[in-house]
Amino acid sequence: MIFLNKLKKQCLRQSLLLLCVLTLSNVYAQDRQVDVLRDGWRFYRLEKNDGEQGFSNRDFDDKAWRTLSVPHDWGVEKGFDVSLENNTGLLHWKGIGWYRKDLDIGAEDKGKRIAIEFDGAMANAQVYLNGKLVGEWPYGYTSFSFDLNPYVDFGGKNKLAVRLDTESFDSRWYPGAGIYRNVRLVKTNPVHVVYNGVFVTTPVIDEKNGKVSLRADIRNGNNAYGKITAKVKVYALDENDRRTPVESKFADVTVGVPAKGDHTLRLDGVVSKPKLWSIETPNRYLAELDLYDGDRLVDQYSTSFGFRTIDFTPRDGFYLNGKRVQIKGVCNHHDLGPLGSAFYVEAAKRQLVIMKEMGLNALRTSHNPPAPEILDLCDKMGIIVQVEAFDTWRKGKKKNDYNLAFNGWHMMDLEAMIKRDRNHPSVVMWSNGNEMPDQWDLALGKSLYTVAKSLDPTRPISLGCNWGNTAINGFQKESTDVYGLNYRTSFYEKTLNKEENKQKGLLASETSSTLSTRGEYFFPVKFGTSKQLREINDNFQISGYDVTYPGWGNTPDLQFRLLEKYPAIYGEFVWTGFDYLGEPTPYNHDMTNLLNFRDKKKRERLKKQLEELGKIEVPSRSSYFGIVDLCGFKKDRYYMYQSQWRPELPMAHILPHWNWPGRKGKVTPVHVYTSGDEAELFLNGRSLGRQKVKAGEYRLQWNDVTYSPGTLKVVAYKDGKKWAEDVVRTTGKARKIRLTKDVYPVNGENELCFVTVDLTDSRGRFVADADNALEFSVSDGAEIIASDNGDPTSLIAFKETKRPAFNGKCLIIVKLDKNRASGQKTVLRVKGTGVGCASIAL
Ligand code: GAL
Repeated sequence: MIFLNKLKKQCLRQSLLLLCVLTLSNVYAQDRQVDVLRDGWRFYRLEKNDGEQGFSNRDFDDKAWRTLSVPHDWGVEKGFDVSLENNTGLLHWKGIGWYRKDLDIGAEDKGKRIAIEFDGAMANAQVYLNGKLVGEWPYGYTSFSFDLNPYVDFGGKNKLAVRLDTESFDSRWYPGAGIYRNVRLVKTNPVHVVYNGVFVTTPVIDEKNGKVSLRADIRNGNNAYGKITAKVKVYALDENDRRTPVESKFADVTVGVPAKGDHTLRLDGVVSKPKLWSIETPNRYLAELDLYDGDRLVDQYSTSFGFRTIDFTPRDGFYLNGKRVQIKGVCNHHDLGPLGSAFYVEAAKRQLVIMKEMGLNALRTSHNPPAPEILDLCDKMGIIVQVEAFDTWRKGKKKNDYNLAFNGWHMMDLEAMIKRDRNHPSVVMWSNGNEMPDQWDLALGKSLYTVAKSLDPTRPISLGCNWGNTAINGFQKESTDVYGLNYRTSFYEKTLNKEENKQKGLLASETSSTLSTRGEYFFPVKFGTSKQLREINDNFQISGYDVTYPGWGNTPDLQFRLLEKYPAIYGEFVWTGFDYLGEPTPYNHDMTNLLNFRDKKKRERLKKQLEELGKIEVPSRSSYFGIVDLCGFKKDRYYMYQSQWRPELPMAHILPHWNWPGRKGKVTPVHVYTSGDEAELFLNGRSLGRQKVKAGEYRLQWNDVTYSPGTLKVVAYKDGKKWAEDVVRTTGKARKIRLTKDVYPVNGENELCFVTVDLTDSRGRFVADADNALEFSVSDGAEIIASDNGDPTSLIAFKETKRPAFNGKCLIIVKLDKNRASGQKTVLRVKGTGVGCASIAL
């Protein structure tokens, strides 16, 4: 109890209650003390030729090192550099970094078991305590825990030192660098539940009862045999993780565990009238496991879970609780845009809120396990998840890929992923990998399948394959339960028809890869691959008409058509929901860019550059794939997905904007996305015709509209009745700043404010092509931690407080100081060239 009180006090003092509660799958109390190690770290990033002598030692003088808080990503701090690789974001993420911190381990902790838990450290972590190497963990995306006991000086000074090395690996996207997720110091009694040691399943569910089977790995760390009793209590959880006891029955279990011995407990019980977890009503429960050593309560370990059934029926799609659910999902990388890869739960929530408003019901954590809090959010928000393990197996895609660690570590990594995440009701399947270059290796596929299945027999195993023939050559048979095919739409029919796949079904695990920049439009409008289109390339942007895709991709329209044609397909995961750092296809540093430029002079210049430098210096540093841009601002495509994924929502959306001073009299096509079945377009009050949405079509097109300034309006109908409308207007020049604040509290608390800057004309109308220079500042009590405008070619560092708007918009992310005086007014001010200034209270 002392520890609990101490924990509570500490949490309150540091406003960390939020974070303590947030490690939700494992909520701890009573003689299990969990400290989130957030503040007071010392950090040093090695310069060239620096030595690292003594860095791990307890008494090393680190006073000259920076003091910072984790999560932390050193990769975004220095800003962009065009001489770096743009597939990893033109950012300085490579290098070696050291973190040091004092651990609070008192004499009263003697006899405790002391562990350190990392949710993720990028990468090749070496963890030291008091100068001694405690353990190593190469993969930056999986969580791990080390036992510190052999190295602890109880009551003395205990110095944790962590060395991270991103120098020695390569990535296809921006991986980030540093201790970019949470770290916890965990103190337990010698008799305790081990790290991620509880597995809850719900084998039988009916209206009256939900059976619960809880398996718990426990350890008796004492030097004597122990008689250990385990009891389970169940609570309902609300969205803020507050508990209410529910009616449940579990038989207590008592076992004898030898000194220094391990045991797996099995506790079976029932919960009366279980409320199902579903997309619409994500009901959650919490199982609290109490361990008694004799009569003494020695550990309390809680795990959230849910009651739901999943059924992948190969002929008829995916069923959740007996109801067919079409998977409407996106793939997302782990970075949080301008925040880099440092994990902020509120920023992650913001991403999911924006995606849910579009109608998303599923997330694929491409191509690696996510921060654990993302799964807590998905549990709470009713989002189903495919958690993915790897982007490579034994064969790498880059020079120093995960393949180098694969042989020694993949079993550990797979285990780390599944054991941590297998209690989440939101997780409905695992993916053992994405587009592995050795997807011909049957034995390997089968071996990973067997390992994953042994750790969780309740969920199907999938893969994101990209060789169509793996769907029919036998590879799929023993490596997957649900065969996932990325792109390769020409193989859909063959895959579904193959006799042996009739038990497996097909998931469109990665689709479309449509490319666009928010608010940019190029003429003439032509559908086609990025290579085919010369006109897209003069400014390293891509047309927002949603007509461009790489050779392996397609438009959302084509994908919708295919999914309608093959209703047995479980659904799709679009590449991607959010733009991400790195992989700015088609402007990657490679030869193919040369083919893109229609401007002969430019082509020549780049050719020369290529000859001299061995590469082209391209300013693009983030992707164009997102349905929303790097700031989370909606591209037009967002509304196409919304029109299909939320058919019951009355909506219509017009593109492009209507500020085209140079296009008077020129043909300027107008596209409309709507959930209605008919629409009429008006330019300055004159009808340009009424069109019906034809079967197999997902956008209405008025391709011969002649531009004249004014008002463009669409009125959509459904079943003959007016359904929705949208208007775009030719505006005046940008004259004013409009600020909007959004917060995404988790468990009732928020630290971050996301402020959107919209530039408007003097009449308050959004100016969709404005790029006025802006400058921002914040009063005491808060800090601007990042900003961006969604331009994939902007090379202004995210931490800068000056930046132009891009196509009318800019995002500023402010962190409130947790120690600010209560009642202190915190204000963000933005001023800009020609647009005056504005401020907003935070
Ligand atoms: C896929 C790959 C993704 C991303 C995407 C871009 O083949 O799985 O990681 O590279 O292409 O279109």
